[in-house]
Amino acid sequence: MKKIIIANWKMNPASAKEAENILNGIKKTAVKLKKTQAVICPPFIYFENSRKIIGETANLFLGAQNSFWQNEGAFTGETSPEMIKNSGGSYVILGHSERRALGETDEMVARKTSFCLKMGLKTVVCVGEKVRDEQGDYLVFLRDELRASLNKIQKKFLKNLIIAYEPIWAIGKKDADAMPPSDIHGTAIYIKKILSEIYGRENASSAPILYGGSAGKENAGEIIKNGGVDGLLVGHQSLNPEIFSEMLISAENI
Ligand code: PGA
Repeated sequence: MKKIIIANWKMNPASAKEAENILNGIKKTAVKLKKTQAVICPPFIYFENSRKIIGETANLFLGAQNSFWQNEGAFTGETSPEMIKNSGGSYVILGHSERRALGETDEMVARKTSFCLKMGLKTVVCVGEKVRDEQGDYLVFLRDELRASLNKIQKKFLKNLIIAYEPIWAIGKKDADAMPPSDIHGTAIYIKKILSEIYGRENASSAPILYGGSAGKENAGEIIKNGGVDGLLVGHQSLNPEIFSEMLISAENI
């Protein structure tokens, strides 16, 4: 399985010109990738231009940071999976903690997840605890969040499901503040176990697990190598093309 490194630009950068510069910088490295897939998730307003820059680059893909659970209708401000696909997007991030903090519920994430999978998008569902307590309550939280966010998926669409484990306490910090790879490894195994409980071992074992939360050039290689994950979801450091390119190279060299 190819490594998957996703750039989640969030609500950045401020201009189309900057977006273009960042993506052009990343593309210089992405054209050389063989064992790694790079996915760029810009704000929707930069989608069309990003699609043009990406062109036919084999291992560089376009993704959305959110989607609605229907394809058309009176839903002001929303964007549908069909629009994402028609605009060149093949990935979508759903249930990011920053969206959940704005009021997105597990139920909404579940509806979006099942519909985006049905529409054939590679669907990245984010889960992660706010705090890591000594008693292990975070494990219960993770299990419940996973179950609730995935509860509407039909088995036959599972092949496009990707889980991004993003402990909220580790997001937006320095490389040294990311979760240690050994802890990531333990959690990745736990997530696989929950997926197997829900869907059966054969169906669930193929779902890639990504890590997100202060992933950067200092820790990217180590997290993938020793964290038992298939890739990374990268926030603020994906806005720096040099840093993100180094992360892609680290993944490629494993
Ligand atoms: P970060 O964000 O890399 O800035 O920690 C990751 C994310 O929120 O997806």
